[in-house]
Amino acid sequence: MTAEGIVLVTGGSRGIGAATATLLAEQGRRVVVTDIAPEPLAGTQVILWPAPFDVANESAVVSGIADIETAHGPITGLVNAAGVFGKMHRIERVRMDQWDREVNIDLRGTFLVARSAGVKMAERRHGAIVNVASVAGMTSGPIHAYTAAKAGVIQITQTLAAEWGRSGVRVNAVSPGFTRTVALEAGIASGALNRKWLESPTAMNRLVEPIEVAQAIAWLLSPMSSGVTGINLPVDAGYIAGTTWAAYGGLPDAPGA
Ligand SMILES: NC(=O)c1ccc[n+]([C@@H]2O[C@H](COP(=O)([O-])OP(=O)(O)OC[C@H]3O[C@@H](n4cnc5c(N)ncnc54)[C@H](O)[C@@H]3O)[C@@H](O)[C@H]2O)c1
Repeated sequence: MTAEGIVLVTGGSRGIGAATATLLAEQGRRVVVTDIAPEPLAGTQVILWPAPFDVANESAVVSGIADIETAHGPITGLVNAAGVFGKMHRIERVRMDQWDREVNIDLRGTFLVARSAGVKMAERRHGAIVNVASVAGMTSGPIHAYTAAKAGVIQITQTLAAEWGRSGVRVNAVSPGFTRTVALEAGIASGALNRKWLESPTAMNRLVEPIEVAQAIAWLLSPMSSGVTGINLPVDAGYIAGTTWAAYGGLPDAPGA
């Protein structure tokens, strides 16, 4: 697949962003990644924006988007993958500086980058944006700021889809379930998360692989989804479908298992 212009992937040096940038480059797209801690993606054609790019810093986002377009051409695809996980706490112990950090990066940062790139896309009447939300934004959990921020990402995805629908810009979200990135593996290794508790509520009894989220994002960026805008697509190995079955005694095993 070829398309004019570049795809910008924020938070593209690691995890879901890195998997997405790598896949899009393999599909023939010209991809630029930014990150607050930029690292090249070895063995790929992905272009690294070498300066640290903090999605929560308004002036840096505005000037960074302009500089990237000057250097590499118009942004016709945007993947907002930069994000931080929520800290797990009892409600009495939620620190408001931590709340502000999660909301600033995960929600405000997504809006800032989407606005900076999307206004230009709308002027050019062409573009597609995919925001990385989370199943956490569709459910509840002891990660109070993160769930609220991700619910906000799902909401602004709809608003921006309506904002730019007549200007030829599509805006969608994906909501990964627990995805086997280095960040998640670190959470399991530290004991903060338990692999079995993450896997067993899902219909498919497993974690999601980063490439599986990348494939959904690539579809939403591509002309294959030309009639789709404003949606939130869970990529969750059936987490949302399966999680309520605990109330009925649990999910059935495969025949003969
Ligand atoms: N891994 C999961 O289980 C999972 C599940 C649902 C949603 N998500 C979401 O997917 C996105 C990517 O997560 P991941 O698992 O790949 O994590 P990750 O930590 O592997 O990757 C996130 C990247 O974002 C970058 N980043 C962090 N703060 C930034 C900032 N202020 N500005 C720019 N870049 C910044 C990090 O340096 C990192 O490279 C996040 O929005 C996360 O909330 C992840």
